[in-house]
Amino acid sequence: MLRKILKWTGGIIGVLVALILIFYFTMYMMVNNRKSKTYNVEVRMIDIPSDSASVAEGAHIYATKGCADCHGDDLSGKIFIDDDALGKLSAANLTFGKGGRPGNYSDREWLMAMRHGLKANGKPLLVMPSYEFYKMSDHDLANLIAYLKSVPSVDHELPKPKLGPLGIVLSGLGKLPLIPAEKIDHQYKPGEVVKRGPTREYGQYLSMSCTGCHQPHLKGGPNPVPGGTPARDITAAGNVGKWSLSQFTAVLRSGKTPDGRQLKNEDMPWKMTANYTDEELQALYLYLKTL
Ligand code: HEC
Ligand code: HEC
Repeated sequence: MLRKILKWTGGIIGVLVALILIFYFTMYMMVNNRKSKTYNVEVRMIDIPSDSASVAEGAHIYATKGCADCHGDDLSGKIFIDDDALGKLSAANLTFGKGGRPGNYSDREWLMAMRHGLKANGKPLLVMPSYEFYKMSDHDLANLIAYLKSVPSVDHELPKPKLGPLGIVLSGLGKLPLIPAEKIDHQYKPGEVVKRGPTREYGQYLSMSCTGCHQPHLKGGPNPVPGGTPARDITAAGNVGKWSLSQFTAVLRSGKTPDGRQLKNEDMPWKMTANYTDEELQALYLYLKTL
């Protein structure tokens, strides 16, 4: 009798292990296929300026789009997720130092990365959130690239992004934004300039940077990093609907909410929103209040 039971449980466990292995193998193959796909896109060239006013504007964009959270303040790149299960994810060294851009990295390659989420060879960049950036106006993106090209070179070599087993399964299930190129409308043609000012329209344009975590509808959702704090509803239906402009500004500059919570920068990147100008925060506020 005991023998029979053992035989049966052994059999069931064997079948389960086999099923898990098949599932994992399927996910692995799927993710690998998506990673190795070559995209054929037409890159629309724009002129990249190099004067100091443009570079200064570009530096402001770098500081307000969260690039530094992954690429670092000196642009030399960093490992921003290091977890046995999820993987080791490093953001590239964007400078022309050792381990960074090669000397012949062209404007076309900057545009491939920012507008299409692709490397020069047409393969997708991993986890680089280009879907938040590709709608940037020609003017703003040109200034950003002008800044990226102007920073001092830093030697810093980083390992290539590598997924762990959980990272592979979550990517296979679409729970991790592994391949931004899949979420980009590659035919989209951004405008030349977007008019600045304390307006709803400008707020809508700026809110692109919030959609990766708060979702395109801005009603919040799960954190893009599995296990992280969920992103809250920031439309008028949430707390933003109750806060005055000065309260909203204080939250985005200090992470302290009127109801006494201290938001952690790792959850809500308020050190990034602290760099927004008064006008930019006002525009965002006006837009969010209408949702
Ligand atoms: C969530 C983290 C994250 C943020 C935020 C982020 N990046 Fe990246 N970026 C990455 C990763 C990861 C890679 C490397 C991807 C790879 O090698 O597959 C990358 C690659 C790049 C590349 C391409 C380098 C190459 O190999 O051709 C450029 C250019 C770049 N990022 C610029 C930016 C700029 C500018 C911003 C802000 C507007 C930004 N990134 C924001 C994670 C990020
Ligand atoms: C990297 C992900 C991420 C990005 C990008 C991001 N947020 Fe958040 N945000 C969060 C998370 C997560 C929370 C919830 C934190 C908590 O509850 O402790 C949050 C909370 C907030 C809150 C407080 C809401 C409340 O009811 O307490 C506001 C306001 C907010 N975000 C506005 C913005 C705006 C505006 C942008 C774009 C400029 C933005 N966030 C970009 C992740 C993000």
